[in-house]
Amino acid sequence: MTSFEPTIIAFVCNWCTYTAADLAGTSRLTYPKNIRLIRVMCTGMVDPQYVIKAFLEGADGVLISGCHPGDCHYINGNFKARRRVKLLKEILPRFGIDARRLRLTWIGASDGIQFAGIMGELVAQTRELGPMLPDLRMVI
Ligand code: FES
Repeated sequence: MTSFEPTIIAFVCNWCTYTAADLAGTSRLTYPKNIRLIRVMCTGMVDPQYVIKAFLEGADGVLISGCHPGDCHYINGNFKARRRVKLLKEILPRFGIDARRLRLTWIGASDGIQFAGIMGELVAQTRELGPMLPDLRMVI
């Protein structure tokens, strides 16, 4: 029996979550290799089209992760991201994509342990959801 290994695209803020990922690495913490990090300057610059494109290009899950509310280096970028994710979670099921495939988290720069833990949890949850159906990608 082959086990499904999901591919997860993670848009991570340069100032917080990316730094936490770096810290996890330098602390020799392990996290699943299924995560593909895309460093952005702020979660507020993650256009909803990036999320849709990630699913179209084969992602089984998408994560957006940045600074905690109030800590955004661009004042309110993470609040913009939160509003966009809320909207996307309403839209995705209309295209047959389970809204649980999209996650938003806040992981601060010093949260390397939390980063590794959330990545493990995310991969396990996406594995339970199973692969995206290839024909759904054609519909969108
Ligand atoms: S700078 Fe990190 S979310 Fe805006």
